[in-house]
Amino acid sequence: MESEPVPSASPLLPEPAPPSGATGGPAPAPPPQPQDVLTPLTGAAVFLVLTIDPGGERAVRDLLPDLAGLRRSVGFRAPDGGLACVAGIGSDAWDRLFAGPRPAELHPFRELVGPRHRAPATPGDLLLHLRAARMDLCFELAGLLTGRLAGAATVVDSAEGFRYFDNRDLLGFVDGTENPEGRAAAAAVTVGAEDPAFAGGSYVIVQKYLHDLDAWNALTVEQQELAVGRTKLTDVELPDAVKPPDSHVALTGVTGPDGEELQIMRFNMPFGSFAEGGEFGTYFIGYAATPAVTEEMLRNMFLGRPPGGHDRLLDFSTAVTGSLFHVPTADFLADPPPAPPSASASAPVSESRAGARAADAPTGAPAEIPATASDGSLAIGSLKRTPAR
Ligand code: HEM
Repeated sequence: MESEPVPSASPLLPEPAPPSGATGGPAPAPPPQPQDVLTPLTGAAVFLVLTIDPGGERAVRDLLPDLAGLRRSVGFRAPDGGLACVAGIGSDAWDRLFAGPRPAELHPFRELVGPRHRAPATPGDLLLHLRAARMDLCFELAGLLTGRLAGAATVVDSAEGFRYFDNRDLLGFVDGTENPEGRAAAAAVTVGAEDPAFAGGSYVIVQKYLHDLDAWNALTVEQQELAVGRTKLTDVELPDAVKPPDSHVALTGVTGPDGEELQIMRFNMPFGSFAEGGEFGTYFIGYAATPAVTEEMLRNMFLGRPPGGHDRLLDFSTAVTGSLFHVPTADFLADPPPAPPSASASAPVSESRAGARAADAPTGAPAEIPATASDGSLAIGSLKRTPAR
């Protein structure tokens, strides 16, 4: 399958000629091509989280350079559909798939246990975030991708998200308004010179939340607005004097050392089922140049700011999954590094990674539990395994 025409470092290709009139040295390499992270919010999305079966590494590696072509096979037939596919790779999977350096900030999702609410870490080697104006395009591509991975990877979580009126979540509030735009959006999600080998990539955290809609709808609209920190109909942020410190908007506002606002890009989608015992929720997906920003927001939500409290939204929203992935550039996917020398070589890597996790853990945050996601257990009881096609 033909992959996306991206700049290549292949020795078979001639070096690009220096620009005419240049006074010396080769032309600078073009910047790496990111995946389609910044696709505008779409009408439909499919979120697939997979674990790689033992021995399935080769099939996964073989799929990566074909992702762009498979997306074209579906998307080209519906040019107005805007089909996009973003692939993310989890921490444990990285060492099973690739030799060479790792993205500097790639680690397993860190579980948070607050006084009232918990953000669990659940298994995830591969994230496929499929977006389009129409669900049929997402569904078709999901079928092709899971078909290619049959017998090599297992879908451990799947959600079909839909646009709900004017980009509202199932709590009835407009979701996504304060996402950064333009250059600020690119800066918020793109790894830069701090990790040159992975510049142009991104990090993504996903969490599936289930809502207690009966309890939420028992609140008055005014009470709901105090929980979110914005007005419901008109989507305007409440004044600081009115906005409670445990509101969602207050706790997800985080700043850097110079007081600058730290931002992430969210592409949350509602999902739901009316079957007996059906679930209604929000699939949270947040891209960032460093997972540290999203993790600080999560600590505020689950452990409180100041510690001991929690985000009022969590009294009506239960996180049932949590995974973290690196999103490499399109160039990386088109021409991935070689496979690690042998499966046995990955054992010491895992040990050193466990040590690195302990060293990474921020002091004074005892409620962050080291992730044990590689045991294959979701430990949440209710997720059904979706058979790979
Ligand atoms: C149940 C899950 C969630 C729901 C229903 C939800 C909903 C909302 C809503 C309605 C807003 C206000 C409008 C907007 O600016 O988008 C908002 C803002 C925001 N949310 Fe969430 N959210 C959820 C989870 C999260 C999580 C897990 C994070 C980060 C870890 C997060 C980060 C943010 C940020 C950064 C803002 C913008 C705050 C601002 O600067 O005004 N959200 N969310």
